[in-house]
This record gives sequence, C-alpha cells and structure tokens, in this order.
Amino acid sequence: MSDTINHKILALSKIIEEHNYNYYVLSNPSISDFEFDKMLEELIDLEKKHPQFLSSDSPSQRVGGQITKEFKNVKHNYPMLSLGNTYNENDLRDFDDRIRKAGLLEFEYVCELKYDGVSISLTYVNGVLTQAVTRGDGEKGDDVTANVRTIRSIPLKLRGNSFPDEFEIRGEIFLPKKEFLRINDELKNQLIEEGYNEEEIFEKLFKNPRNAASGSLKMQDSKVVAERRLDCYLYAVLGKELPFETHYESLIEAKKWGFKVSADMEKVASIEGVIKYLDTWDKKRHSLNVETDGVVIKINSIDQQKKLGYTAKSPRWAIAYKFKATQVSTILESISYQVGRTGAITPVANLKPVQLAGTTVKRASLHNADIIEKLDVRIGDTVFVEKGGEIIPKIIAVDFTKRGNDLFSESSQPTKYITHCPECNSKLVRSEGEANHYCSNELGCPPQVKGKIEHFVSRKAMDIDSLGAETIGQLYDARLIKTIADLYELKKEELLKIERMAEKSANNLLEGIKTSKVVPFERVLFALGIRHIGETTAKKLAYYFKNIDNLKNATLDQLLEVGDIGERTAQTIIDYFVDNRSVEIILKLKDAGLQFELSQEQLTNTSEKLKNLTFVVSGVFSKFSRDDIKKIIEQNGGKNTGSISGKTSYVLAGENMGPEKLKKAEKIGVRVISEDEFIKMIAE
Ligand code: IVH
Repeated sequence: MSDTINHKILALSKIIEEHNYNYYVLSNPSISDFEFDKMLEELIDLEKKHPQFLSSDSPSQRVGGQITKEFKNVKHNYPMLSLGNTYNENDLRDFDDRIRKAGLLEFEYVCELKYDGVSISLTYVNGVLTQAVTRGDGEKGDDVTANVRTIRSIPLKLRGNSFPDEFEIRGEIFLPKKEFLRINDELKNQLIEEGYNEEEIFEKLFKNPRNAASGSLKMQDSKVVAERRLDCYLYAVLGKELPFETHYESLIEAKKWGFKVSADMEKVASIEGVIKYLDTWDKKRHSLNVETDGVVIKINSIDQQKKLGYTAKSPRWAIAYKFKATQVSTILESISYQVGRTGAITPVANLKPVQLAGTTVKRASLHNADIIEKLDVRIGDTVFVEKGGEIIPKIIAVDFTKRGNDLFSESSQPTKYITHCPECNSKLVRSEGEANHYCSNELGCPPQVKGKIEHFVSRKAMDIDSLGAETIGQLYDARLIKTIADLYELKKEELLKIERMAEKSANNLLEGIKTSKVVPFERVLFALGIRHIGETTAKKLAYYFKNIDNLKNATLDQLLEVGDIGERTAQTIIDYFVDNRSVEIILKLKDAGLQFELSQEQLTNTSEKLKNLTFVVSGVFSKFSRDDIKKIIEQNGGKNTGSISGKTSYVLAGENMGPEKLKKAEKIGVRVISEDEFIKMIAE
C-alpha cells in the first residue's frame, strides 16, 4: 500500500515538474492553469497525509512554506568574480587587442545579454538541487536554497542522465518587468489601505526590478517568495572535468538538463560581430520582459579561456559592455508643487513630452529645493532626462549650451522655490536637517485633510469600505465633511445630492459609518492619524492608558514609559492634544458613540499569564480562529512569532499543521500543545 502511494507521489511529481518546465522554461504550456492547480493540490494532499514520502525536490516545495530565520554564510567552491566594464566601441577593440596580444590568433566570442538581477550559484549533486548561494562578497555568500526552490524555472531535479554527477551552475535571478509592476501595484494598494501617505508609500515601493529581486530572495518566509514569481537565466557551468570544449556548448547542454538558458545568446566570429550584436540589442532589449543593463562578451573555447586566465578580480576572457542609460533631452516647461498627505511638498518638472525607453515622459521628480538649486534648473531650460530601471525618470543635468538661445533666454532666472502652500496658501516650513518643505496647516489644508479622512476609513482603521478616495473628495468639495467627525453627521438627503451617488450607495455608506462605531479603541486611536502613531503603537498606547483621557493627560515621562515610544513620538502626542481642534474632533466623535476606552472584555481579558512566553501558532483550530488565538496570547502578555527557534516556548498546533514545522519542533525540543491545553493555560 505505502509503496503504491509513494509511487503515485513520484509519478504525479514528475508530471507536474514537466508542466512547470513547459510553462516556465519553454514558455509553452500544454495544460490549463486550472488542470495544473488540481494536480498540485492532489500532490500536496497526498504528501500531507503521508509526510514520510515528502521529498525536498517535490514540486509542492515550489509554493514555499519553509522559513529561514538567518541565512547561513557559505564559502563558494569557486569564487564569484565580477567582470571588467567597457562603455564604448574603443574599449571593446582594446579588449580584442589584448586577447590577440596574449597569443590567440583564432577565436570566437559568445555574446549574451547582461541581465540586471541578483547572481546566484546553484549546486547539483546527482541531478538534484542541493544548494543555492548568493554572490555575497564573492568569496562567501548567503544560503538561500529554501527561497530558490520556489522559482519555477530552476529545476529541482534535472532531466535525462547526461549531466555530471556534481557541478555548479551560475546565473541571474530576476523579477520580470511585468511582475515588478504587479508587485509594486499590490504593495501600493496594501499601503494605502494601511493608511500610509504618498511619500511613505513611494519610499516603501521597490525602486527597480533588481531591488525587488534581491529583497525577495532575502525574505524569511519562502511562501511569500513563491508569490513573487522570480525567474532565472543560467549562464555559466562550473565543475571538475566537465565534458565540453566550448562555453556555447555547455549552455546548450545545460538547456537539455532543464535549465533556462537565454535564446538571445549568439556566437560571433569577430569583434565586428560583437558590435553588431550591441547595436541590435541596445534597442531591442526594451521589448524584453527582463531588465538588461549591457552585454557580456565571452571567449567561446574553454581551453582558450584557461590560457587567458584571471586577474585578481575578473576573468581576462570575458568583459561586460554597459548600455548607456537611456537619455534624451527636452524642455522644462514648468515646475508644479504637489502637497502630500503629510503636507510634504514635492516639486515636479513638467516636460515637453518626449519618447524615452519605450514610454512617453512628461514629468520627472525634482525631489526638493536643494536639488533644484544644485542643478540650477530653470524654466525654459533644455534638460537631460534619464531613465534607468527606475520607475520615475530623473533630470540629470541642464544643457547649459542651450541656455541663452532659446525662447526663454531673456527671462532665465534662478528658480525660486515656493514659500507658501499651493493648496491652502499657508507659509511653508522647513525644519533643520529636513530635505523637504512642509505645509503645517495639518487640519485645514485640503490634501492633508482628505488624506486624514482616507486614513480614518481605511481597513485597519475604521474599515468603512463603502467610502473610497473619490467619494471623500466629492464630499469634501461639497463641504459636507471638513473633518473626520463630520462623517458621523452625514444625512442621506445630503449624500443623494452628490454626483453618481444612488440610494443604495448612500444607504451602504451610512450603514458602514454606523457599524464603525463599534470598532475597538486601539483602532480608533490609530484612525485618528496622529503622526508617527502606527497600528502597533496605537495598540500599545490603548492597552497602557486604557482610555483617551488618560492618554490626553499623560506627561512626556509617562509616555516614555510605554515600551518602544521615543521622544519624537511622545512629543507628537502631546502636541496633538494641545491643539484645541483635535480635542474638539475627539469630543464630537465621542458624542457620536465611538469607542474611546478599552471594552470591559478587553480590560478583564488582560492578564500576564503568558508573560515571557513565545508562541508559534500553526494550523486550523476548532474553537477559535487563528487570529483570535493570537490576540488572546497578546492580551495575556505572550508573544507570537512565525517560526520555531530555540526561543519558542510552545508550538500551538491545530489541524493540518505543516509536517516541516512539527519535525522542527521535535528536533529542537519545543513543546507542542493542543488548542484545549492552551485554553486550560489561560483559564487557570
Ligand atoms: S558571466 C566571471 N553572464 O553581471 C563572471 N554575468 O560583473 C562571470 N551577469 O555578477 C559572469 N548577466 O551577476 C555573466 N550573461 C551573463 C550575465 C552576467 C548578468 C551579472 C553577474 C555578474 C555581473 C558581472
């Protein structure tokens, strides 16, 4: 019986990996996503029921699950070198000359695209992926095997039987451009929901696909990595006594073993061929779904590579050619100033529209007053705009040769930074050491007020999901809401006057507002949008001070007694309550019936029964939801963590807890308890 099950698991694994290969390596799927998911579900189910047959190269591992607390630092068998760089044709001809001078008369080059991601070294023993290590400092890197296993185009097991018993293969892990946009988009929506403002969101977004790839590879939870859909091109095979004569051949072979090798590599007979390749790809690369920053040129013959050898840092038989970051020049037509939700001012350059790397560029960020001054950029100037892998193009310099013979020459004046808010005309302030100017009219400046209301209704705050940014804008413009407190005085007749607001939406909105009155105190506190008070701080403050009046009357010293609250945050809280307008808003909200104190239940449930205990909660429970259990742990002074370590006190295991976790708990000797045992601990 168990033999047949194992057999079934192996057979199913093989079919699934075959489909993975078709889809991710060959880009040629032969079944629907639905059929694929069904098979994978079946496999996961079988493995769950029979964990003894779960192997680390099973395709079920592609969905992740393993947590890496700390990445092990591992020494590379062969150091991971870098390449010399060239930036123009002359540099390349010099490279070609050096090779001739070294005594080679006849040789071939292989040209490959230089993928802009994170380099990785994979080890295969008997056809099975055993280790994946990042470049690190070239000598030692981080072991990121658990995360790399989730990358569908990297084989966990090789195809055929022509591969060497043991070898390494190196390549570039990258995030496809489309995935990068998707992830940033999702991240942005999540951050909006969590109440972050525009600048904070911009700061938190990935700046380019390389950043996103390297960030993803270093995440602790491989399940999240799996969702990132990383990809990988392999470009070098290493090992003892490898059976190839040329680099090109080694990659063609690697392709047969199941690796993803770029179809865009090309064998050329001379440096002229290299230059032709560069010219073609300088333009064509923009249409690829992967970011590239150059071309790598390698001597094809492995014997000749050996003859040329290495300098201290890089091979003499290869070189990189870097594409020029795509640049164009255009005219700066005007500068506008945007006011963010926190009042931060961002200057934006409005450009004469111009084509750049496949998109039309109309705007570029100018960051702040210092940058404008440093560039000495003026309206009417011809400016150089550059777009690397970054999302927003930047102005790199002014073309001073053009200043003076353009339309605006007569009036060319140094740019004067605005002194007053373009939205509410309040005087702008700039604190010591801050790069940005701010509008300090927090409670009267329209984008700041609207931003505060958007934050107030967001999911983790009052969760009034029937109220989106657009409706908030309409209600604000119609002067129906000036502060968050006005939401609770909205009348149906008023709402119906708003454009595109039907009876049903008005009812939904009023219902949502009404339901929000039961939102617990800690979330109301977060919803108020006091600067620096995030979700966690709000919770801490709520449990520490128990009600808003205690918090309002707290002194600086008392505030500093709350764990993790620094001077800056404490001072912001004091400033907030000193402002009569905030106090008035709170009074109105109190009158409307919002929760400004911990509930009886919250008060009575708080104990220190689980003080100093750390829990890992895993699986499905019958009496409480997992979130409830985590809440109970916190309310009783305990701590929740995601992964089992020596510091874990208990693993609270529900049904279907992952077998890996169970194994790990047993290995470390952490006690595993059931839901009932846990309830007893609390009830005692
Ligand atoms: S070959 C001895 N080929 O570029 C170095 N590298 O500094 C062998 N890269 O860190 C590298 N695409 O991460 C090679 N087709 C390609 C490449 C490539 C990207 C990266 C690699 C390395 C850096 C070179």
